[in-house]
Amino acid sequence: MSSRIYGGDAADAQRATRLSPEAIRARKGGEPVVCLTAYTAPRARIMDPHVDLILIGDSVAMTLYGMKSTVGISLDAMILHGRAVAGAASHACVVLDLPAGTYEDSPEQAVASARRAMEEAGVDAVKLEGGVDMAPQIKAIVDAGIPVMAHVGLLPQSVEKLGGYKVQGKSDEGAAQLVEDAKAVEAAGAFCVVVEATVESVAVQITHAVGIPTIGIGASAECDGQVLVSDDMLGLHGNNVPKFVKLYADLEGVIGEAVAAYAKEVRARAFPTAAQTYARKPGAKH
Ligand code: KIV
Repeated sequence: MSSRIYGGDAADAQRATRLSPEAIRARKGGEPVVCLTAYTAPRARIMDPHVDLILIGDSVAMTLYGMKSTVGISLDAMILHGRAVAGAASHACVVLDLPAGTYEDSPEQAVASARRAMEEAGVDAVKLEGGVDMAPQIKAIVDAGIPVMAHVGLLPQSVEKLGGYKVQGKSDEGAAQLVEDAKAVEAAGAFCVVVEATVESVAVQITHAVGIPTIGIGASAECDGQVLVSDDMLGLHGNNVPKFVKLYADLEGVIGEAVAAYAKEVRARAFPTAAQTYARKPGAKH
């Protein structure tokens, strides 16, 4: 399993300094894997030294573009965000989410989309949503030499089918299916698996049932790692965040205060001052 064949020498040079998917896989049962989403170069640059894995999540559809769900963002748009993040990250493993409609139809479609992500964005791996039903797609992508992060539990791309953003694994049948899903993505070759919004005991069961790291989001502290949408934990996504989000900052408040201070100074002609303007220098030619 190597990503070093996609995207040319420049992409390979950047990948060489970053944590590889193999290194993430080796963290099973060890030091927790720290993951966050990022969609832009500045956010990736700030996060990179602190995290092990940066996910260009299709949550960008909602956080940045204000869409109602993650369905609707294009692969072209994801690749642009992926290129920005991969270009700014030199430490963390960089994973790009394949958006809805770009992999479900067939293993061939999935491989073509994953190849584009690796070649055009220069990321280290791709992520896709689904368990038993997506195992053939995962296997085909891995067989093409591209590492895959899987995603089971609540699948935001299938939220219509699931009847909304609901906690998964409440029934015995549902819990057993989630364990089967996780085992299937491991058998297909995924290097790790996101477990989203499940009953806690089910996330623990999955973590014990598979030999790849489980990355929890609304799952359990016993998972092998954790991921959050960075806009949520930084307080940039309004008040409408799920129970599993903890606010580590209030950037909406910070930005609001800064903008209000700027507006006040502009209206009072207190900005700009001499410190922000260019004086003419005697004898200057231009
Ligand atoms: O799109 C995303 O941000 C994700 C995370 C919630 C895991 O898939």
